[in-house]
Amino acid sequence: MREIARACARLRRLVDAAELDRRLGERLRRRRLPDAFLYVGEDGAGNWLALDASREFDVASRLTELLRRAAGDVAGRVPAGAALLAIGAGDGAKERLLLEALAPRGTRRYVTADVSEPMVARALDAVADLDVEATGVVAFCEDLPGFRDEAGSPALMCLLGNNVCNYEPDALLGLLGRACGPEDAVLFDCHLLPADGAARRRWREHVEQAYRSPANVRFNLGPLVRRGLDPDRAEFRLDLVRAQTPAGPAVRTRKEIRILDDASLDVPGGPVALRAGETFEMGFTYKYELGQVRRLLARHGFEVRAEHADPSGEYVVVLAGTGGRQRS
Ligand SMILES: C[S@@+](CC[C@H](N)C(=O)[O-])C[C@H]1O[C@@H](n2cnc3c(N)ncnc32)[C@H](O)[C@@H]1O
Repeated sequence: MREIARACARLRRLVDAAELDRRLGERLRRRRLPDAFLYVGEDGAGNWLALDASREFDVASRLTELLRRAAGDVAGRVPAGAALLAIGAGDGAKERLLLEALAPRGTRRYVTADVSEPMVARALDAVADLDVEATGVVAFCEDLPGFRDEAGSPALMCLLGNNVCNYEPDALLGLLGRACGPEDAVLFDCHLLPADGAARRRWREHVEQAYRSPANVRFNLGPLVRRGLDPDRAEFRLDLVRAQTPAGPAVRTRKEIRILDDASLDVPGGPVALRAGETFEMGFTYKYELGQVRRLLARHGFEVRAEHADPSGEYVVVLAGTGGRQRS
């Protein structure tokens, strides 16, 4: 595994590789493959970065472009000297953009948290030449109360790359709301669901094509292939389905892997025998309308401080805060 490169950067592990492997093995026995495990290990990180850079999967590049345009405005709206706390930062390219914009406002503290240690290493490398005191945290997002204080207050907490849409909204926004003090803010981006019917049909075709691309199939099959599955003996399926949310009906991806021939997986605790026809249930991405995003935030006491949408209206960056009303 790649070493944490920066001599002066700190690293904390709230979960280690053996524990991740144990948890994944336990999920696989129940025919579940949660998305967090897709990014773990050098191969998981590599598969994600290949997908992130692929032309077919333009959700990633469009969100990066939008953040590039929004970063200056965002930096001007957070308190001087605010630390940056990134959750699910990946290779930290977007956080570097933010740190460059925040530097004139006195930001010197950066905490980058991700379940994938190779991603944390990359995110620390990405800021090695900047004048920031960086800490890497290997943790699940759900462990936020265990690493929130690394950043202190005021802090800008960010979840970028459509990350917010990968969690149940009430659980995630409740977690973030409780971590938010009076001067803190939360920044996230979303790939949105168009409100108009005709635009929605074109959007659906484009999304299904992007998510079914070879790079995305490789990324989603990765943890099973690493444990001995022949990728030609499995089928990755994805479609968009209607989903009830606390802000009304939205859409979400439904993903599964179907096993085509009997096979075996090598996991901690002993091999898992798979039968043809079995399926693994995977994670999801919600697609909300912008009004639904606003209503979900309001349910958890967040007020929107700034919104930046791209010209198509399909992508948005949102800065929000609670004024400290939820902090526990
Ligand atoms: C869609 S990628 C986005 C990466 C980056 N923010 C970007 O914009 O390119 C999701 C990132 O979150 C991490 N991740 C996924 N599930 C997680 C979880 N439950 N807890 C912590 N990190 C998670 C992954 O390792 C990955 O780096």
